[in-house]
Amino acid sequence: MKVKVYVELKKEHFHKDAIDVLSDIADLVFEPLSDEEFKKIIAEASAAIIGLKRIDEEFLAKAPKLKIVARYGVGYDNIDVNACTKRGIYVTYTPDVLSDAVADLTFALILSLTRKICKADKYVRTEWAKGESDFPLGVDLKGKNIGIIGMGRIGYQVAKRAYAFGMNILYYSRTRKKDIEKELNAKFTSLDELLKNSDIVSIHVPLNEKTKGMIGERELSLMKKSAYLINTSRGAIIDQYALIKFLKEKRIEGAGLDVFEKEPIPLNDPLLQLDNVVLTPHIGSATIETRRAMAMSVAESVLSVLKGKVPKNLVPEQVTIFSRKENIN
Ligand code: NAP
Ligand code: GLV
Repeated sequence: MKVKVYVELKKEHFHKDAIDVLSDIADLVFEPLSDEEFKKIIAEASAAIIGLKRIDEEFLAKAPKLKIVARYGVGYDNIDVNACTKRGIYVTYTPDVLSDAVADLTFALILSLTRKICKADKYVRTEWAKGESDFPLGVDLKGKNIGIIGMGRIGYQVAKRAYAFGMNILYYSRTRKKDIEKELNAKFTSLDELLKNSDIVSIHVPLNEKTKGMIGERELSLMKKSAYLINTSRGAIIDQYALIKFLKEKRIEGAGLDVFEKEPIPLNDPLLQLDNVVLTPHIGSATIETRRAMAMSVAESVLSVLKGKVPKNLVPEQVTIFSRKENIN
């Protein structure tokens, strides 16, 4: 009999090539499921492919056969890794394959703000033909300072794009990256210096206890009045309430946000009333090619575990614990 794999996605959102990889040995059960159906599958599942669902003690208690939680994405703040490790459950993620797509979206938000693309589109549809063109000017990126918070896989891809645009790169990160400094003429600074000196601030740290609320009222007050804040990481890294206040009072120029404290962002959220923001619905990795690569990555992880091997893309906290086992695949 085939083993069961729970997939927290609709079937049409999980690439068929990845389904092919798994379907010889596994029955894949996709969302949407009723509560009853979910309880039944999770009680039997050997593997769970997880989007943004919280994986905690409560979830794991209902999943006694689980061998792997394969995160369909790179941020794993929704997964209690310690609770999984205690039970001998592998946690994997999909690093690298999505970095370009997220960096592209970051630049799409930057350019939408600096060249007023959303406003321009609306203007063409409603105003332009009515009279003289009086659309406001944008600003150049060349020669401007971008401050990258978190110089990891995605931060580095953003830096490469910024370099190609002729921007000066400042960065703040847990570990200094001298090779990137050399390659892209990037300057390592304190967070405060980065905030004071950047024309664009872009956030790429993971969400954890140290980064939650990292950008609050004090940090926003250090930013230039003309600066833009971009967040494609996690909503809770910014104090959203403070950000709304700063945007309303025009104490920063604007913000480009792909992630929010609560997702989906409620329709009555005050952010939606502001005209100096560009908002996207958590689509950093949402391209055809990247979603296929992510699906193949989780399928390979699940397949390894179902074959009794240690999977390749373990989250960093589990690498030393589980890599002592042989046969990393
Ligand atoms: P990554 O390679 O781990 O990069 C994160 C960087 O942040 C690393 O350089 C890390 O330092 C640094 N960092 C960690 N904690 C820090 C702290 N407290 N202070 C300063 N720097 C800190 O991760 P990634 O692949 O670039 O992904 C980053 C995040 O993007 C994910 O965690 C996820 O939340 C988000 N994301 C969003 C989307 C979307 O759809 N919008 C898609 C993918 C990812 P070290 O170099 O020392 O480790
Ligand atoms: C998406 O948000 C991810 O973490 O991959």
